[in-house]
Amino acid sequence: MNIDTYINSIVDGNCIEIMKNFDDNVIDLTITSPPYDDLRNYNGYVFPFKSIANELYRVTKQGGVVVWVVADATIDATETGTSFKQALYFKEIGFNLHDTMIFRKRNPIPQIYRKRYNNEFEYMFVFSKGVVNIHNPIKVDCMHAGLELNGTTYKNYSKNEQVREKLAKPVKEKKIKGNIWEYVVGKKQEDQEAKRHPAPFPCELVRDHILSWTNENDIVLDPMCGSGTTPRVACEQNRKYIGIDISPDYCEMARQRVKLIEMQPTLHFQYE
Ligand SMILES: C[S@@+](CC[C@H](N)C(=O)[O-])C[C@H]1O[C@@H](n2cnc3c(N)ncnc32)[C@H](O)[C@@H]1O
Repeated sequence: MNIDTYINSIVDGNCIEIMKNFDDNVIDLTITSPPYDDLRNYNGYVFPFKSIANELYRVTKQGGVVVWVVADATIDATETGTSFKQALYFKEIGFNLHDTMIFRKRNPIPQIYRKRYNNEFEYMFVFSKGVVNIHNPIKVDCMHAGLELNGTTYKNYSKNEQVREKLAKPVKEKKIKGNIWEYVVGKKQEDQEAKRHPAPFPCELVRDHILSWTNENDIVLDPMCGSGTTPRVACEQNRKYIGIDISPDYCEMARQRVKLIEMQPTLHFQYE
């Protein structure tokens, strides 16, 4: 079936069955997060991780990106390590592990003390099919902007070199953002619509990835879209979206969220 059938829609169903209908090499960006460590039983359904990863490889365009947001449960006093196993599997089937990024929660849920520090982050594994095609880097202010510094140390991780070189004088205003991204979870107005889902993304996290790895009119997929944060933000940013979820209730929530954006065209680009 042609991918056009699915463009700008939210589809109820098992993503593995739905994705089988997609053509090869059609998706520019996938942003998704699986049911964490609920691997055996999710609403009575066995989560077929490997099949999903294989389908994602097939449907991703050359140079396209998959952002896989995941964290581990702690079971019998040990973290499961599922996130790492999944990341290594993505590599095994041909993806590059382009970047291991961190989603740091500025308001982590307090936990019962179990002789460990409070968990406050999740992984955002960024996989690419070959070399990344699009990167529109987000920039942040330089701490020493405008200062006349003598030199600084640069690290070239590929060559394992560390050299001291002259800095631009004066120091530039902006630099490329680091790979630890911080967000407040569930408090912003735009995140309130997703409250009925147990684990929605912050819209801002999805927005930052969409702006980083795609251009307008590119196709953004979330095969486990839950409350529909990825389709909602893709629509807001004038990207094409496809959302899939196994729960008809979540699909309905996702459709409502996208509809709100479609009805308010002024929201488009508000965040650029
Ligand atoms: C961690 S939640 C995703 C939340 C989403 N990122 C959001 O912003 O609301 C995982 C979702 O995967 C869905 N799911 C689990 N197995 C699935 C499958 N095989 N196919 C499609 N969706 C699935 C669940 O219904 C759940 O909503």
